[in-house]
Amino acid sequence: MTEKVATASPRLVRRAPVAIGVLVTIVLVFAAMRVWLDWPNILAGTTPGDDFAERYVAHPRLAYLHIAPGVIYLLGAPLQLSRRFRTQHYDVHRRLGRVLLSCAFVAGLFALLFGVPHAWGGAPEAAATVVFGSWFLACLALAFRAIRRKDVRLHRRWMIRAFAVGIGIGTIRIWVGIFEGVEQTLSGGTTPGTPDPTMFGIAFWLAFTMHVALGEWWLRRAPALTG
Ligand code: HEM
Repeated sequence: MTEKVATASPRLVRRAPVAIGVLVTIVLVFAAMRVWLDWPNILAGTTPGDDFAERYVAHPRLAYLHIAPGVIYLLGAPLQLSRRFRTQHYDVHRRLGRVLLSCAFVAGLFALLFGVPHAWGGAPEAAATVVFGSWFLACLALAFRAIRRKDVRLHRRWMIRAFAVGIGIGTIRIWVGIFEGVEQTLSGGTTPGTPDPTMFGIAFWLAFTMHVALGEWWLRRAPALTG
């Protein structure tokens, strides 16, 4: 008797790049907003009015050694994961891979160094950062080990897991937006509510848990694309 393996529908497979594009765009918009809001203060040595931005201005090295390499990694990773790109430009894939893997490691390390002591969402955010930041770094390390052993299939699977966590940052912002909208509706206000630190921490857990699960789901449902 043959075991029936469930696979992702072709429509879903076609939509995955669109979803990834949307999430990467969200991350880019928030990264650009951070630069726009923080750097005038960092350069002038002034303190911003809101306590969310204050941490980025007070610890620019920690914050931007997370954001800048993270953005480079997120921009390059979709190309690396494309089967067509890998087969047509294998040398570029290898060279770019070294750069992007290094960027991802630095981004993950500084996610811990900035996100744990300076978490705006307090203990829930700091805990989520330890759990998912460590998972992100572990996936990268295992992907590196696999390719050193010339196990291309395993390398690709760990890279997909790392990427699933990385784009989770976009989904955090979606959850924060939903919470702000709900707060606005409940308070009857006309402008979105300010993100509450507890909501921010919850958004971290929801988004990253979803993304780890989605990564596993993708690896099971689209084996032809990931194997
Ligand atoms: C790899 C791609 C990543 C990119 C491009 C990225 C980008 C960013 C950006 C733009 C911010 C500023 C947040 C905002 O203003 O909304 C941020 C903050 C943060 N990121 Fe990442 N990130 C990435 C991965 C990760 C990972 C894997 C973790 C670990 C779980 C993480 C943890 C954090 C933390 C803790 C903060 C600080 C949030 C705060 O309290 O303000 N990031 N990241």
